[in-house]
Amino acid sequence: MIVLGIETSCDETAAAVVTDAREIRADVVLSQLDDHTPYGGVVPEIAARAHLEHLDGLIRRAMAEAGVGFGDLDAIAATGGPGLIGGVIVGVMTAKAIAAARDLPFVAVNHLEGHALTARLTNDVAFPYLLLLASGGHCQLLVVEGVGRYRRLGTTIDDAVGEAFDKTAKLLGLGYPGGPLVEQAAARATNPGRFALPRPLVGRPGCDFSFSGLKTAVRRHVEEVGAPLSDADRDDLAAAFQSTVAEVMADRCARAIARFKADHPQGGALVVAGGVAANKTLRARLQILADREGMPFVAPPLRLCTDNAAMIAWAGIERFRLGESDPLTFAPRPRWPLDPTAAPVIGRAGVGSGVKA
Ligand code: KG4
Ligand code: ZN
Repeated sequence: MIVLGIETSCDETAAAVVTDAREIRADVVLSQLDDHTPYGGVVPEIAARAHLEHLDGLIRRAMAEAGVGFGDLDAIAATGGPGLIGGVIVGVMTAKAIAAARDLPFVAVNHLEGHALTARLTNDVAFPYLLLLASGGHCQLLVVEGVGRYRRLGTTIDDAVGEAFDKTAKLLGLGYPGGPLVEQAAARATNPGRFALPRPLVGRPGCDFSFSGLKTAVRRHVEEVGAPLSDADRDDLAAAFQSTVAEVMADRCARAIARFKADHPQGGALVVAGGVAANKTLRARLQILADREGMPFVAPPLRLCTDNAAMIAWAGIERFRLGESDPLTFAPRPRWPLDPTAAPVIGRAGVGSGVKA
């Protein structure tokens, strides 16, 4: 089975060709970073226009790299949400047009499911597993029971973890996108233990997250040290922030592991996914936790953590081989939670409903 995947939900335009033998035949990603950098964040209208301009060319490139024509494809998968709706519409309409013209099945993929199933593409991980989904719009702990079957154990009550990285980067004058820049600054720190930051919810029951207090604490330190920050101040603060985030995540994961083991005594892996899963300090910290808990730990290669279309093609394959596809009347979804039965989170409207991935 050969599937073309399309991803346009945020600021990466991407196309990929993947097979059901877990082979990534092509995986092209065009970052719109330069288009959005002057504004310090993603501008939805600019994103939608850039997807429109580049998507056709990227699909052509991916198919040429994979050495396939439309006649070789078994299905077309595109991100159907959640995400910035203008971009999602561009990807979905393109996929529908190809599907209609070539009489191919169309699969609308939940972007979050793309992240969630990546570990099955890269490592053939068996269900069930415990997933930490950490991206720019989400921070959730989920039990992945099967394709389309997710049980949410915890989520953030305020900011997503990637959002916290991005806001911290802004406070430190590092620019956008924050995650990789904070990671690089932290690596240069000469006194990483200099600043003590609060560790929100650590030691508390449940598996929820909170990051807004941490960001406020960084702001307070920035004000105390006084502008302009020296390079050393900035790097030490970045290191403090990053190691605190890793500690908080490990604490929340440890609680989720206890629940996972109680419900699934046969065991399963601890998996991390989403853009923040590219962070090496977080990966190392979670590896220690998994070793302690006797669980296999799976973190996809860095380029498959951040947004890409290989994960969309793969999630499309997983659904399609179960006999699922979508009609061409499918309407793009700005919100699309993985676990629609999860209770709403008190404290912030929209969080956990999949506003952005
Ligand atoms: O999954 P993703 O590519 O896009 C969506 O949000 O769907 O995640 C992007 C987020 C951004 O907030 C970015 O700052 C963060 O992932 N990120 C990182 C790293 N690379 C990307 N955060 C921490 N460390 C990184 N190396
Ligand atoms: Zn994403």
